Formats: sequence, C-alpha cells, structure tokens
Amino acid sequence: MAGKENGAAGKAAINGRAYPIVDHTYDVVVVGAGGAGLRATLGCAQAGLKTACITKVFPTRSHTVAAQGGIAASLANMGPDNWRWHMYDTVKGADWLGDQDAIEYLCRNAPEAVYELDHYGVPFSRTEDGKIYQRPFGGHYTEYGEGPPVQRTCAAADRTGHAMLHTLYGQSLRYSAEFFVEYFALDLIMDDEGACRGVIAMCMEDGSIHRFRSKRTILATGGYGRAYFSATSAHTCTGDGNAMVLRAGLPLQDMEFVQFHPTGIYGAGVLITEGARGEGGYLTNSSGERFMERYAPHAKDLASRDVVSRSMTIEIRQGRGVGPEADHIYLHLDHLDPNILAERLPGITESAKIFAGVDLRRQPIPVIPTVHYNMGGIPTNYHGEVLTLKSGNPDHVVPGLMAIGEAACVSVHGANRLGSNSLIDLVVFGRAAALRCADTVEQRAAQPELPREATDKALGRLDRYRNANGGTPTAALRLKMQKTMQANCAVFRDGPVLEEGVRKIAEVWKGVEDIRVTDRSLVWNSDLIETLEFDNLIAQAAVTVAGAANRTESRGAHAREDYPDRDDENWMKHTLAFADYATRQVRLDSRPVHTRTLTNEIKYIEPKARVY
Ligand code: FUM
Repeated sequence: MAGKENGAAGKAAINGRAYPIVDHTYDVVVVGAGGAGLRATLGCAQAGLKTACITKVFPTRSHTVAAQGGIAASLANMGPDNWRWHMYDTVKGADWLGDQDAIEYLCRNAPEAVYELDHYGVPFSRTEDGKIYQRPFGGHYTEYGEGPPVQRTCAAADRTGHAMLHTLYGQSLRYSAEFFVEYFALDLIMDDEGACRGVIAMCMEDGSIHRFRSKRTILATGGYGRAYFSATSAHTCTGDGNAMVLRAGLPLQDMEFVQFHPTGIYGAGVLITEGARGEGGYLTNSSGERFMERYAPHAKDLASRDVVSRSMTIEIRQGRGVGPEADHIYLHLDHLDPNILAERLPGITESAKIFAGVDLRRQPIPVIPTVHYNMGGIPTNYHGEVLTLKSGNPDHVVPGLMAIGEAACVSVHGANRLGSNSLIDLVVFGRAAALRCADTVEQRAAQPELPREATDKALGRLDRYRNANGGTPTAALRLKMQKTMQANCAVFRDGPVLEEGVRKIAEVWKGVEDIRVTDRSLVWNSDLIETLEFDNLIAQAAVTVAGAANRTESRGAHAREDYPDRDDENWMKHTLAFADYATRQVRLDSRPVHTRTLTNEIKYIEPKARVY
C-alpha cells in the first residue's frame, strides 16, 4: 500500500487494479456540509485548528437547504418564554426517551446559538419592532405544557434552512477551512485500539482516493430517509456516516424511531411546513371535519407530529380520507390573508403549485404523513463524542470520533422530535463539537502512521462493487427495500408485520451478493455511488426494522398496535443495534436513558402520560 503525506500522490493495487491515493493530514475532518457540519467546520477553523470539510454535494445543496418552518429557541420575542419550558416540551415530545442532560444543554444554549446566526447574517423575518419573528409549532407550549401555545420557532419566511446554510457556508469561507466538494466518504480509519484516525474518501470527479488523517473525525452526514419509498428527504439522505459506524463494529441507537411528517404532498412527498399550521392552517377529512379537535382537544392541528400523523392515518383507515381513493387528507390555508401567505409562506405556495397543482390561496393541499426525520443515529454525549458499550460502560467514548446533526443520537429527540428542534440541534451541537475540539485537540501536533488494513478494507469494498457482475441492478434492490420499509415499518406497526419486514429486509440484504454495476469507470460513476449508498441504506433498514420488532411497547413515533401502551418499567432505555456484516445479522443491546439533568437549575422531569 503506497500513499504519501501532504497531498502527494501514491497508488494502491486491489485485485490487480490501481487506485491512486492522495494523503492529507488535518487536526479535524468534518464529513458533511449541512447545518451541523458547517457550524462545526466554522467553529474548528475559528479556533485555529487545521480543518477539512468533506462533502458529497456542494455545501449549499446539503439537505438542510430544504428545512422550511424554522429553528426553536426561547427568545420570548412574541410573548413569555424560557428555556425551562422549552426543555419540558422537548422531554415530553421525546416521550421520555431523551437524555435530560443533553436536552438541558440544547434548550439553554438555543437562544445564544440563534443570536449568533443572526449576527452571522441569517436574514430572519422580523416583527414590526425589528425583533426576530417567531411562529407557533407543534408541541411547543408555555407553563410546562399547561399554558397556551408559545411562538418559539424563529423563521426566515419558510426558507429558514436555506438562509442558514448559505450564511454558514459564507462564514466558513472567512476562515481557513478547506472544502473537499463532491467527495464521497467510503469508510472510517479505525486502529487496533478502537480509535478513529481519519476517513477515506473518493473524489467523484476523477475517482482518486483521498486518505484523511485527523485527530478528530466529525460525522455530520445526515439521516437515512431514503431507506423508505416516500420521504421528504433529498435523494442524498442515505446515512453514509451511520453505515460507516456500523461497518466499524460500533452501534447505532434508537433506530426504530422514524418520524413521519404529517404534511408531505400526496404523491410527491415534498414537505409542506408545519409552519403552515403554525400560521393557522388546518386539516380536514372527507366530511370537511377538522378532525384533530377529536384527537387532541387542546393542541388540535398543532399537536406533536407523531400524534397528528397517527390521527390522519386513522381517518384514512376508517374511510374518511379524501380524493378518488380516499387515501389522503386536506390541508387548508385558503382562509388565510394572502399577504401572510406571500410574506411568511412563499416557498410552500410555490411547492403546492408545482407538486400538487393547487393554488393554496383557493384550494386545499392534498397531504399524507411522509417519512421526514430519523430520531435514531450514532450515540453521542452532548459534546458530540461518539459512545459505545465497552466493559460494561454504556458511555464509553470512542477516541477520535464525533457525530452531530441528524446522523447523531445525542439523544435530545428521544422517541419523537418536535418540529423546529432539528435546526437548533444542528447549530447547538455543531458548535458544541467545535468547542470540544478546541479544548481537547492540540493544534498541528504530530500524528502516528495510519494502520494499513483500513485502506485495504475500504478499497476492497469499493473494488468489489465497482466490478459487481451479478444479475440484479442496484435500483431493483433499492426499490424492494424502500417498499418493504414503507409497508412494514410505518406509522402503525405490529409484531407479524414487523417480523415479515425483518425477513424481507434480510432477503434484500442477501441480494447484494447478486448485485450488478454496469459502469466500471471511476469518473462520475453514479451507478457505483448509488450502489455504495444502497449498501449503506440496507444495513440501516435492517437495524431499524429489527429494533422496531424488538421494542414491545408504544412510545413516540413507534406505535405498536399489539402493544399500545408506553412501558417505562421495561423499555425506558435506548436500543443499541450492531450489524454483523459476515452473517448480515443484527445484534441488539441497550443503554440507560440519562435521567440526570446538566445542572441543578432544573430538576429531572418525571415521566407522565403524554397528552396534547
Ligand atoms: O415543518 C417543517 O418546517 C419542518 C421542520 C422540522 O422538521 O423541524
């Protein structure tokens, strides 16, 4: 195995085929350039650390760009609010599966993180008196859930993610972070002691292999919504970092908790922001009834997402859906002032026209619950350090490896995330990870040689798929996986359907032995990249459905019809899922939920029934 330092080129030979390798050394390497990745990159570079950011898409095309409604922080610009109420709502929204130390960290630091974005230049919408505009979002209340809804979600019209991403990228360029754009991360470089020493990536433009040696590798690779058939997620959301973690023999956490957003456009899956209901929109069934009043008398259309998605599904199942096949629901905005629509919801006005063919000023939008977010991911503490089980310690820190954003499971969202808590998670924990690196990484200190085996293994996998000569195209396997996940691991679940899902996903996984890739080149080989992405997705699908079959209770987004109640005695614990690639089996374990808070400025919030 050749390969030289400082950007010099070397070469590796795998099965007689040559792979040019370029070596790089950094203090910190961030993989992913969405909101979390950019915030971490910016923070590390600002701290004087030699920082690289590797991304498979141009930074401003990362999926954060699609985030619409806003970012939660208790600024109290529109009425009384404070971080303790935000913390209470987040714990309750998470159905008591969140780690309360991490949730306290999130909610306490949220206002500062938003003001920081404001100062960086995010063009937030404004109130008459020039403050950051905040709108109501589901599950956010005053007075520890007892008072009226709070306007906590800071918005840049309905293009908040877009505004954040462009601003953060611009800010990152002010410092000396180096960007490796359109580089696909192949695998982590782990050493014999279980420490992460960097990452191997492929430049998609010319197929060259790049080996990044770093003291900290921060995975900010997003969720894996594309394991499902219909998702609001971009096609790039294939959970590449999660899969690298599984291949490194480390666990993923709480993967059974998959959030369905109530208002994906029927058929297209495109998001219609919850901000639409925040601004006064409401849902109706085939009789024109505002049915959420029956399911959530207090919160109505602004109940938590899992509650609204289940209510819509029940309406459809009981024959009260709309449309020729009675299989969706209407979202009404036609009663709202057109000026509000133009000012606060211009993006979805356009999406409704393009993807549903409706003028939402006059017609309802056809919507259906659509896969939107993964609460599960790479287990971390609130500094962003990756955790694993080791010698009985459930909070063992994996040296050198960090994770943030949707890829991570900190866990602040537990069993169900509140709307607008995702964008705040990105910046609070992106910043936290950078602060941790600044505290713990010695700038430009020498790093030991990299273990050779990691490169061989990563290139072996790449070469195997590049030359895969079976009978099944990747797209066929991917479709089978997506349809199975959509049918067998959906809004409502039960034992037999989940067990069937486990079997079907195992069959699809076995199908990789017969996979066919037709393009053998290394230059812009989308056939190969999609195959590597599929290989990433299928392992995550397997751990998701296995975790769901195993968890015999209902909690947050995991609604078991055969186990309709939450069972704190047996299940108030995080699922840990490991993948054995030799046998394609999933092994499950668990770790306790943190019931401690971060400070004594707030007490542990005791579990109780979750009603809205
Ligand atoms: O509905 C939305 O705008 C989505 C926000 C979120 O998922 O946080």
